[in-house]
Amino acid sequence: MKIKTTPLSSGIKDFTNTVLSLPVRFSDVAKASDKQAAPPAEFQVNKVAASLHPKTQTLIVENVESLTDDFKLYTLKAKNGKAAYFRAGQYLSFQAEIGSSVCTRAYSIASSPKEALNGTYRIAVKRVDDGFVSGYILDNWEKGFVITAYAPEGTFVYEPLRDAKTVIGVAGGSGITPFLSMAKAIDERTENFNLTLLYGARTEKDLAFKDELDRIAAQNGSFKVVYVLSEGKTKGFEHGFIGADLIKKYAPAGCDYSVFACGPEAMYAFLSKEVESLGLRKKFVRFEMQGVSKTAAKKAGLKNETCKVTVIDRGKETVIDGRCDETVLTAFEKAGIAVPVRCRSGECGFCRSKLVSGEVYIDDSSDYRRIADAQFGYIHPCCTFPKGDITVKIN
Ligand code: FES
Repeated sequence: MKIKTTPLSSGIKDFTNTVLSLPVRFSDVAKASDKQAAPPAEFQVNKVAASLHPKTQTLIVENVESLTDDFKLYTLKAKNGKAAYFRAGQYLSFQAEIGSSVCTRAYSIASSPKEALNGTYRIAVKRVDDGFVSGYILDNWEKGFVITAYAPEGTFVYEPLRDAKTVIGVAGGSGITPFLSMAKAIDERTENFNLTLLYGARTEKDLAFKDELDRIAAQNGSFKVVYVLSEGKTKGFEHGFIGADLIKKYAPAGCDYSVFACGPEAMYAFLSKEVESLGLRKKFVRFEMQGVSKTAAKKAGLKNETCKVTVIDRGKETVIDGRCDETVLTAFEKAGIAVPVRCRSGECGFCRSKLVSGEVYIDDSSDYRRIADAQFGYIHPCCTFPKGDITVKIN
């Protein structure tokens, strides 16, 4: 296409033809009505934003597959056919009413962003020993079950401006799901980075998605997978626990790399020291927390003592029971008080509330509050433990 330009008196080219278009514009303005135009019923930009980031989505369980004895894969289909798009590594939060409690739980998405364009997500749920919600899901979600989910969220994603071109992923247990999504996104060219995944499990039969991971690794040179078994010796597998030596063995020689880790808390306790010994820049290390630390309360010396939590919601006060070794959010949920919740690990800020009185404990590992929030007494109830009676203002 040839662009016509008009030379200005100074010799500068008028690429947008402003000189020619101005008289037309002035004449259009002169002809226009003085009356204010009625605003459109709906702005297009709002329509697009709502479809990309819906407040809630209705999903229907389309398929259930057992991955291991206590680990199931759910295929969820958006009721209206449109699943909100996401970045590989993000999670979905679900709300469940169990008895008189209202609980929200987040699960990493195992499918690829491209699958969301076809209205589908896949999530995997593993039974947790004292897991109130995981047990409920595994026992109740079957084909046809209708679920309310929020839009995808989360920061455990590849950022080219922050992360190195090669990522060493460390996965344990159900922590494999965000990496599966990343591997698929790399294969489908939605993401552009190299991923070497170190996937740890007790035995070979505890490895989920092995065929799928092997298939992607065989056809795409940007993705590699190494299986690490902690029990027994099997040919073709690494053995022991994933630590600094194994990461160094598979890291690219002579260039930067990022370490992304997702797995159970016990894995982090060991791995964080190992990763520290690698001397990587802070921005190259990303640990995905799956809920608040189970040992946080113990670490702070908080015991199984009851306390009173006074909840102020739009001026109305309600007193509920709390426990010093459970989070403030757990007290809300047990009392059936629904507050906005997503990550449950202190990170997203959705549950941000004001601590009006009383003392609380927040472990450093989950204290993601803004400095001003911490200074002015705001808390994230999902990672805050009451040290005694407290008063909290929600909403
Ligand atoms: S739910 Fe994300 S900070 Fe509490």
